Amino acid sequence: MPEADSLDRKDFHLSQPARNEPFFLKGSGAYDWGMQNRLARIFRPATGRTVMLAIDHGYFQGPTSGLERVDVDIAPLVGSVDALFCTRGILRSSIPASMSAPVVLRASGGPSILRELSDEEIAMSIDDAVRLNAAGVGVQVFVGGPNETRTVHNMTQLVDAGLKVGMPVLGVTAVGRELTRDSRYLGLATRICAELGAQVVKTYFCEEGFEKVTAGCPVPIVMAGGKKLPELEALTMAYEGIDQGAAGVDMGRNIFQTDAPAAMLAAINGVVHDGLTPKLALDLFETLAAAATASPA
Ligand code: 5RP
Repeated sequence: MPEADSLDRKDFHLSQPARNEPFFLKGSGAYDWGMQNRLARIFRPATGRTVMLAIDHGYFQGPTSGLERVDVDIAPLVGSVDALFCTRGILRSSIPASMSAPVVLRASGGPSILRELSDEEIAMSIDDAVRLNAAGVGVQVFVGGPNETRTVHNMTQLVDAGLKVGMPVLGVTAVGRELTRDSRYLGLATRICAELGAQVVKTYFCEEGFEKVTAGCPVPIVMAGGKKLPELEALTMAYEGIDQGAAGVDMGRNIFQTDAPAAMLAAINGVVHDGLTPKLALDLFETLAAAATASPA
């Protein structure tokens, strides 16, 4: 028998009401504890923002420039990201399980770059995401594309499966060649993802009206980076996106295709979490890149 608790020193803090803090992320207050905890692994509670490194490109375009050897070029970066966005194949084969960054797993796929890209299906089960200790899963949604209904259904199926185990779903609004990246389209696509249950939505930045896209989406938006730009342009895009309401970035090529990916990650972190202006962030990038060249690891 365990001994009775005989100490008369209990302190119930009677003058303090029970803590009942609102969850820090937009639109996320009504989720269960496990879902919120996973979201709090992806987004830093201190800033409410995230720097995700997207390296999932190989799922449709093979060994993308900068991702030829994920074990060599990307694995050393994972200590500097808030979350890694990748496929389960790359995770199991090329990322050490000892890393502490949370993972959001690409969970849709099928067609290669050689075919109709919107022809995607769900490409992994929630069971496998749980087995891999994922913090979330991501699925591509092609609003306005030839397989709009199926890809929306892919997302809603994952949302239903995710709700059972507390796994957030990142709805990724794909922009096909035929679709325009303006605020009207992005506002439509992001809102549809949120309305149908995505806990986080990933989309592209647009020059005009991006603040309306983020305001009209009731859950956090993270921005994709798109094709490689000069560093100052990429940092400016990240700055403006955050300034206009994005809760972070899920950026790939503008990090891993620079000459100094670790330096670019530091600069992006500075913009997203510390409010660095694009110019100051560029200075940081150039200083760190020069130091890396002077004394390569
Ligand atoms: C591909 C994706 C990528 O993760 C996304 O495009 C982010 O990468 P980048 O910043 O290179 O555009 O979802 O479908």
